[in-house]
Amino acid sequence: MSRVALVTGGTRGIGAAIAKAMQAAGYKVAANYAGNDEAAQKFKAETGIPVFKWDVSSFEACAEGVKQVEAEVGPVDVLINNAGITRDSQLHRMKPEQWTAVINTNLGSLFNMSRQVIEGMRARKFGRIVNISSINGQKGQFGQTNYSAAKAGEIGFTKALAQESARSGVTVNAICPGYINTEMVQAVPKEVLEKSILPLIPIGRLGEPEEIARCVVFLAADESGLMTGATLSANGGQYFA
Ligand code: CAA
Repeated sequence: MSRVALVTGGTRGIGAAIAKAMQAAGYKVAANYAGNDEAAQKFKAETGIPVFKWDVSSFEACAEGVKQVEAEVGPVDVLINNAGITRDSQLHRMKPEQWTAVINTNLGSLFNMSRQVIEGMRARKFGRIVNISSINGQKGQFGQTNYSAAKAGEIGFTKALAQESARSGVTVNAICPGYINTEMVQAVPKEVLEKSILPLIPIGRLGEPEEIARCVVFLAADESGLMTGATLSANGGQYFA
């Protein structure tokens, strides 16, 4: 019986690459998404991976959504908390909604989602939780007090839950991607990207979503039980943490 993997934000960007790589590695995959129906349907048609729509910033929506995934696909063995948004602004101009949206979606979702699956994983004595954090949670980023705080919080959450889960065969790890070639990074003003970001990446290019997916497949494997509480940096040498 193949294991079941659930990817939040799994129909676009890094999440879509993760979903496809997990499918290729033999998992039964379910992909959550929040709003873009057109992209989700296209992804489903191309991959055959079932898609489930709910908002990961809502605990109740996560409870309902996971229940549906478990009924249709099976109990979740691997949870990949990938869903995330940006609302970039310098703090002196940041609105409360920009702060709250990023904290609730990027960090609140780790509680909202992990809480739904952790009891089952503990009972079955196997589980993998992989949290997609960011280089900007490690180093901080101009214009991202909200995002940097949420992403740093994800690393703390990972380390704490790893300790709680170790005796139950459940590993919890974080991956910190650098700047990856996705819509999120393409939305950064061209001048900022070319002048302030690309020159700081030693490999001289953005990362590709598939390069992050490869890290997830590694951490999700049954054979990766020794790795827990780790923060895996994949950023082209931009920052060593
Ligand atoms: N460090 C230091 N100073 C900077 C800076 C930086 N990184 N970026 C801009 N500044 C300076 C500018 O040079 C400018 O200075 P002057 O007025 O002296 O010329 C001043 O700050 C104002 O800059 P902007 O005109 O850009 O300010 P703004 O308020 O209009 O916009 C911003 C600010 C929205 C933060 C914009 O700069 C921006 O979008 N920056 C990109 C932020 C970023 O990297 N986001 C990452 C998104 S991708 C992602 O999050 C994925 C991931 O995990 C990696």
